[in-house]
Amino acid sequence: MPKQDVCEKILISEEEIKKRVSQLGEQISKDYENKEIVFISILNGSFMFTSDLMKKITTSCIVDFMQVSTYGNNTSSSGEFVIKKELSFDILGKHVIILEDIIDSGYTISKLVEYLKTMKPASLKIATFIDKPNRREHDVKSDYVGFEMNNDYFIVGYGLDFSQRYRNLPYVGVLEEHIYS
Ligand code: IMP
Ligand code: MG
Repeated sequence: MPKQDVCEKILISEEEIKKRVSQLGEQISKDYENKEIVFISILNGSFMFTSDLMKKITTSCIVDFMQVSTYGNNTSSSGEFVIKKELSFDILGKHVIILEDIIDSGYTISKLVEYLKTMKPASLKIATFIDKPNRREHDVKSDYVGFEMNNDYFIVGYGLDFSQRYRNLPYVGVLEEHIYS
């Protein structure tokens, strides 16, 4: 694979992403065969994952978006949980799947789950494109995982950003060091 100029290393190629996201879509379609799914896509990072995954869903589904922030530093979260964009759809009695780009410490998703449970969905599951289980500080497990990463790389691409940039990369990579410093 050719080396790209912003990434020192490509960890997951466009082809691998396509294949794995399709598999997840098929799996979810099977698991929710007779149920309607409400996807809650967490902006901004999950937009590509949401789009590609939903194209592989064969059961009835709805998508809504939320944006939250967990004011922390640039590369991790820990601060106050703030909802910046609310749901516009009532999830009472619905089968909900949260779509996340990445679960790192688990803080963001654990706060979200806590919040969404108060709206009494019939069921609530999590699908994350990337899971970093060895970075977990909050007890939360994703029901569907695209790729598990057990390294300490800060990754970008396929929706994942560094300072809002590089979300457009069609693969997942590690940024060149000079971009951080
Ligand atoms: P958590 O609350 O610590 O689980 O962090 C989740 C959020 O941190 C994600 O939604 C991302 O915005 C950000 N994040 C954590 N690790 C990475 C990474 O490797 N690349 C890009 N964003 C990341
Ligand atoms: Mg981010």
